Amino acid sequence: MGERYSTVSVTFQVLPGGALGGEIRVPGDKSISHRSIMLGAIAEGVTEVEGFLEGEDALATMNAFRAMGVRIDGPEEGRVRVFGVGKHGLKAPVDALYCGNSGTSMRLLCGLLAGQGFEVRLTGDESLSQRPMNRVALPLREMGARIDTATAGRPPVAIHACPELVGRRYEMPVASAQVKSALLLAGLYARGRTEVIEPAPTRDHSERMLRAFGYVVRHSGNSIAIEGGGKLAATRIDVPADISSAAFFLVGASIAPGSDLTLRHVGVNPTRTGVIDILRLMGADLVLHNERMVGGEPVADLRVRHAPLHGIDIPQALVPLAIDEFPALFIAAACAEGVTRLTGAHELRVKESDRIQVMADGLNTLGIQARPTEDGIEILGGPLRGGRINSHGDHRPAMSFAMAGLRAQAPIEIDDCANVATSFPGFADLAQDAGLRLRSIDA
Ligand code: S3P
Repeated sequence: MGERYSTVSVTFQVLPGGALGGEIRVPGDKSISHRSIMLGAIAEGVTEVEGFLEGEDALATMNAFRAMGVRIDGPEEGRVRVFGVGKHGLKAPVDALYCGNSGTSMRLLCGLLAGQGFEVRLTGDESLSQRPMNRVALPLREMGARIDTATAGRPPVAIHACPELVGRRYEMPVASAQVKSALLLAGLYARGRTEVIEPAPTRDHSERMLRAFGYVVRHSGNSIAIEGGGKLAATRIDVPADISSAAFFLVGASIAPGSDLTLRHVGVNPTRTGVIDILRLMGADLVLHNERMVGGEPVADLRVRHAPLHGIDIPQALVPLAIDEFPALFIAAACAEGVTRLTGAHELRVKESDRIQVMADGLNTLGIQARPTEDGIEILGGPLRGGRINSHGDHRPAMSFAMAGLRAQAPIEIDDCANVATSFPGFADLAQDAGLRLRSIDA
């Protein structure tokens, strides 16, 4: 616990002004990368992955399966080969599985490992060690799993051997793809039917990928169900570029006069495109080209040009569909004319940081009126000063404040940016290539 991948401290220095232009491809989708390793590992045969995200979060998942005896070759330029061991071929790891900063690794592993015949412990870094795990532990216990957490449902998590789980119907109190996915993964090992009811649609990559591995998933209305006992057959996976990483550039190009940027091969799964809808409601000029299906996931090239933005009341139905993009959207709101209001987003308080507070504090530093509420924020657009921001080790606020430099009147310094490597390795170089006046300083 409390470990970090790197002890290097990274500061971003951003000079004011500039515009974003050209054509870029951001790294692979984080959610899909995690799942490609997990399902590939318990499938029969060799799964070939391309476009894999070589970020620390997805690598934590990869290391976890290596520690459970799975041979995984790569990543090499985004290519990975997972030599599946079948559903019952995982071996007890010698040590605890370290999930780093990655909530997705820990929560999905809870589900996948709940029905194994061995005991395993899951640990994480300082941030992950504060995050709620009862949201998966409680429903998994209802399926018969033996899972212990530390105080208040926090990590580390201990999962005890459990030869058989029992399928259950579970109505999720929060709209969470991680909880849904954990239960479906446990359901692969359960007797009978596992059914999850969503209060609102959440990302459906697990369902799509299970089907790509030949597993039947039934989806009707807000219910997603699988029968236990089946097998997974290895497949090929082409991971699209991550729309959550594209989001920083969509916002940057929208706010910076003179911008005209194309983002190639971006995943535009309708359960992820809330950021596009919200930006368009604010007046953004965003066009999808070359829409196509790649391995069961919709993909497109996104062209974004500068446009004047205006404040909106963000429709609550879009919240789960843009949950990771709010830090970037708050920068758009700060550059928009008028007030933007977000409600129904309490989940932002339990991400890698309390993103409502961290973003409000940073925006206030830049001279913007941002008022946090229990489940959202109100932001009044206005001129951005420069200043020194603390990202609190959270990758998404760090990259969002970097984009704010495009509209700031003076330099912005952002501290504690090392965790950008969890989801977006190479961010600083790519952002510079696109036109951001960013310097990344390692100490
Ligand atoms: C994820 C689901 C989301 C998201 C996270 C990745 C996933 O979390 O915030 O970054 O891969 O399933 P919740 O499901 O907890 O909202």
